[in-house]
Amino acid sequence: MIASSRHDDTSSVPEPQPFLDGVDLHALAERLGTPLHAYSANAIRRRIGELQTALQGLDATICYAVKANSNRAILELMAAAGLGADIVSAGELQRALAAGIPAARIVFSGVGKTDEEIGAALDAGIARFNVESLDELHAIERVAAARHVVANAAVRINPDVDALTHAKISTGRAENKFGVSIAEARRWFAEGRQLAHVRLDGLHVHIGSQILDLTPFRLALHRVAAFWRELVQAGHPVASIDVGGGLGVRYRAGQDQPVAAADYVQVVREALAGFDGRLLLEPGRYLVAEAGVLLTRVLRIKEGTERSFLVLDAAMNDLQRPSLYDAWHDIVPVSPEPRPLATYDVVGPVCETGDTFARGRVLPACAPGDLLAIQGTGAYGASMASTYNSRPLAAEALLDDGRYAVIRRRQTLEEMVAGEQPAQDWLAP
Ligand code: LLP
Repeated sequence: MIASSRHDDTSSVPEPQPFLDGVDLHALAERLGTPLHAYSANAIRRRIGELQTALQGLDATICYAVKANSNRAILELMAAAGLGADIVSAGELQRALAAGIPAARIVFSGVGKTDEEIGAALDAGIARFNVESLDELHAIERVAAARHVVANAAVRINPDVDALTHAKISTGRAENKFGVSIAEARRWFAEGRQLAHVRLDGLHVHIGSQILDLTPFRLALHRVAAFWRELVQAGHPVASIDVGGGLGVRYRAGQDQPVAAADYVQVVREALAGFDGRLLLEPGRYLVAEAGVLLTRVLRIKEGTERSFLVLDAAMNDLQRPSLYDAWHDIVPVSPEPRPLATYDVVGPVCETGDTFARGRVLPACAPGDLLAIQGTGAYGASMASTYNSRPLAAEALLDDGRYAVIRRRQTLEEMVAGEQPAQDWLAP
């Protein structure tokens, strides 16, 4: 479960974080300003390494879910480690290719691929489409036929499994928009021989995100494995099985107990024992979430009639997870200086009550100008940011062994409004 920040919690005292990847965070914030997304390159490399080690001996490709953090420098780290990409749009395709991820290691998921996007992916020569509906299968057939090529496709199975995570990031229940039932997939394979431009020989499953329990993975994979065996018996070769992403991470020290990569891969090995095709994995959060912090300064402390509000210079536009999913993120001071404890509602400057990072959070007493680190923000932080309230996109920095590189400049006000224009050239469509 995503820990909820809706209820006050006074149980844990946050550990200060003065450094990330050998970089002094005070000095970094001085230099680059706040709010600032900072990521540890070594933490990302370590996670990649853990997963690669767990996969040893398997014919497996890790296709990083670009949506988790789509910054080019992050994608270049993935490319350097030999990873592929799981993309969901032409934009992500372009980013992955530009970062040097080979098309042959790119898979394309998502329920709303347009003909243009399918065409762009075919032109690039991606490895495989994860197909989510019959209509999409026919669209791929049509677009591939026009190009005289054959597309590789996997059917995304909706195994009707409860991922035991937040409803908004659950994807594997029958009521969700993702994938098709095994009964429908069975019909696709039976009729697949008639498609001249789609080679349907893969299975895909992704049941949700921030999963902290192996049981839903086990259940979903066993359903997929049973179907794979059935297909092979019926004479349909299965060249690849994509087990999706979803591995959870620790957002709340002392409470969240993430699954170890090795244990997760063991579940995959057991469920797919005997499978001799290619295994694909699509982790996003697991690789990048815990590598990131959002650095932010305290603007002021507002004493309300009922609660103390710690007003930060970061807001829901920089990190949406707390307002969207009631997600918990640990918030810690950067300075280790001891102070008495105080309890705050930690909020941003955006004009919405939902612009709340935490309620009733215990922190060392803060003063205006203090630097805080919101932790676990490397995934679905910057990639989900907006300019709501006309707040420019925050800067991003990659840290590596005591050095840093700016990997996204702070957006200027001019850049933020670029593309807007007065309504003066009125046309009839
Ligand atoms: N594969 C597919 C088809 C996906 O839809 C996703 C995520 C992934 C892989 C990667 O999942 P991960 O390993 O990161 O759990 N914004 C939400 C998470 C949405 C996830 C969407 N799909 C959040 O901040 O919690």
